[in-house]
Amino acid sequence: MYTQLEQRGMPQPPVNIATLRKMKAQGEPIACLTAYDASYAALVDAAGTDLVLIGDSLGMVIQGHDTTVPVTVEDIIYHSRNVARGLRRAFLVADMPFMSYTEPGQSLDNAVRLMQEGGAMMIKLEGGDGQIEIVEHLARHDIPVCAHLGLKPQSVHKIGGFRVQGREPDQAEEMLASAKRLQDAGADIVLLECVPNEVGQIITQSLDVPVIGIGAGPDVDGQILVLYDILDITQGRTPRFVRNFQEGCTSPLQAIGAFVEAVKDRSYPAPEHCFS
Ligand code: KIV
Repeated sequence: MYTQLEQRGMPQPPVNIATLRKMKAQGEPIACLTAYDASYAALVDAAGTDLVLIGDSLGMVIQGHDTTVPVTVEDIIYHSRNVARGLRRAFLVADMPFMSYTEPGQSLDNAVRLMQEGGAMMIKLEGGDGQIEIVEHLARHDIPVCAHLGLKPQSVHKIGGFRVQGREPDQAEEMLASAKRLQDAGADIVLLECVPNEVGQIITQSLDVPVIGIGAGPDVDGQILVLYDILDITQGRTPRFVRNFQEGCTSPLQAIGAFVEAVKDRSYPAPEHCFS
């Protein structure tokens, strides 16, 4: 009765949290992407992506907002459901949107909805010390949690723009301390956004759980990018860490495959995608 997840006719079994821990231990880079619908999810999965995130970046790339703040739990559930239908192997993580995890009871209710209605296997929340109690509460109820540190886009109006975090030594130390406390509270993955390489490296070396980076340098355990950024769909100025993988490719599947390969052979991120 415990084998049904491995009977989907796949050459490789589905990725789970144990797979991701083993990849960290063995130094195998974890390739991660966002997805928002079943068609792209199928391509992302076929290309060998290990982890797929239903990011609240959907507020920007799907809905056309300037920030992720307007995204709701209903929005994430809708997209997560669609993505889940397209996946066979990848591990599915769904974002907890702005203000959906302000206190333990509400956080648990919303996390359960993302898992039961959205098909998520883990939830991600933007947090630091203020979210320790929430992470503890979710972990106590066996909800797998990814804690997002560094640049937290849901706080854009509080911090005054999308900018690199942890450049000052005291900020970097505080981030490392928060990462350890979140791990101790039960976080299963830590995601770091827009931090200098050194901060990515120190936090990765200091934690037992996998650390996934977006603009966090080459020394984290895995890399994640927004799907529409790597496919060159996003118009206008893109962040420094974005690489256009569509260039030189004749199909989205080929471009996604090129991303997975570049993460696995560590040719992405190159110095021009990193912060110091
Ligand atoms: O919402 C999102 O897509 C994210 C990634 C940028 C990591 O949180």
